[in-house]
Amino acid sequence: MTNIHKRFLLKAHSLANKNFGKTFPNPSVGCLIVKNNKILSKAATAKAGRPHAEEIALKKAGKNSYGSIMYVTLEPCNHDSYNGSCTNQIIRSGIKKIYIAKFDPDSRTNKKSIKKLKKNNIKVNVGLTQNKTFETNKFFFKSLKKNKPFTKVKMAVSNDNKIAWQDYSSKWISNANSRKYAHVLRYNSQAILTTSKTIQIDNPRFTIRRNNKIIKFIPLIIIDNFLKISLKSKVLNSLSKRRVIIFTSLNNKKSKYLKKIGCEVILMKKQSNTKLNLKHIFTKIYSIGIRDILVEAGGIFFTELLNNKLVDEIHLFKAPIKIGKKGIPILIGKSIKDLKLSIINKKMFGKDKYSNYVIKS
Ligand SMILES: NC(=O)c1ccc[n+]([C@@H]2O[C@H](COP(=O)([O-])OP(=O)(O)OC[C@H]3O[C@@H](n4cnc5c(N)ncnc54)[C@H](OP(=O)(O)O)[C@@H]3O)[C@@H](O)[C@H]2O)c1
Repeated sequence: MTNIHKRFLLKAHSLANKNFGKTFPNPSVGCLIVKNNKILSKAATAKAGRPHAEEIALKKAGKNSYGSIMYVTLEPCNHDSYNGSCTNQIIRSGIKKIYIAKFDPDSRTNKKSIKKLKKNNIKVNVGLTQNKTFETNKFFFKSLKKNKPFTKVKMAVSNDNKIAWQDYSSKWISNANSRKYAHVLRYNSQAILTTSKTIQIDNPRFTIRRNNKIIKFIPLIIIDNFLKISLKSKVLNSLSKRRVIIFTSLNNKKSKYLKKIGCEVILMKKQSNTKLNLKHIFTKIYSIGIRDILVEAGGIFFTELLNNKLVDEIHLFKAPIKIGKKGIPILIGKSIKDLKLSIINKKMFGKDKYSNYVIKS
């Protein structure tokens, strides 16, 4: 019998998976309503996180929900929305049993919905396939726990662990297939984080493209202590389409001008003469609703993030080329081999070796 329920939950997970990347800052959740082993309706969290999957599925099933079973990948919310919390909507619908893959760690809901559903004579089963909910929405669980965004660092490196040539050119380290996948990584992230140095050197657009067409804009966060960013940078051309957030210690004519053209300039106290406090910056990023970031910057910044224990995952594309001793290193004062990593995914993109690592805590 468990197998049938597991099958329906797995279907709900695959709905959640398909929608991943569209629901930030909310997790992507899947939901099925089933009666007599027949699916009445299915849904995933809508774009930007609302309406929730349960609300959509209930609406689709209508009166038929009465006496049915709901399968949902995350505990239904207990906080009010326009139609009442999902928990209240489920109670109103006459659903008789609910399979919840994983409880919601958000304190507004955490196990409260489960309690309320039970109190209203709905049978509740929690935990079947819970790992899948975690895997899909790692950013949600991990960022909530530390009140900082879930942080992935993406790097293209040569076989000798250099990220650019001596003259700072780096464009063609990885191949076209790797670069295509890098756009998938961007698509599945809530925001990109970079440094003004990388912007000055590469002048990237930081857009998300498929077949050379822009398919999505996500916020861009720039660490720019001394406001070195050129006003001609390409990233300043898309201010009407996305947030560009600059962290700096300077409050001057340039910061005012950047605000005037549409950037969000966040003033931070200097930690030392040359540095900003990255932990404070990450707490601030979380507080403005950004829960998941992809870092695309150089080795100096990567090292700083590691030293501050701010990295959750590394996405490494290793190309079969050698840049040589004078190249720009992936890390300063340490080597990738010194890090405590466990590998969770690897594949080949042509001759490039891609590895996805988790930093062991
Ligand atoms: N291969 C790849 O995947 C890849 C990806 C991105 C970039 N790149 C390449 O990487 C090269 C640049 O790398 P890089 O290591 O020289 O530079 P970087 O890591 O991009 O940026 C270093 C700069 O970030 C700022 N910074 C770092 N920590 C800070 C802190 N705690 N507070 C305030 N500011 C901080 C400092 O800027 P200030 O000097 O202004 O204080 C520092 O000089 C470029 O050639 C670029 O093309 C390669």
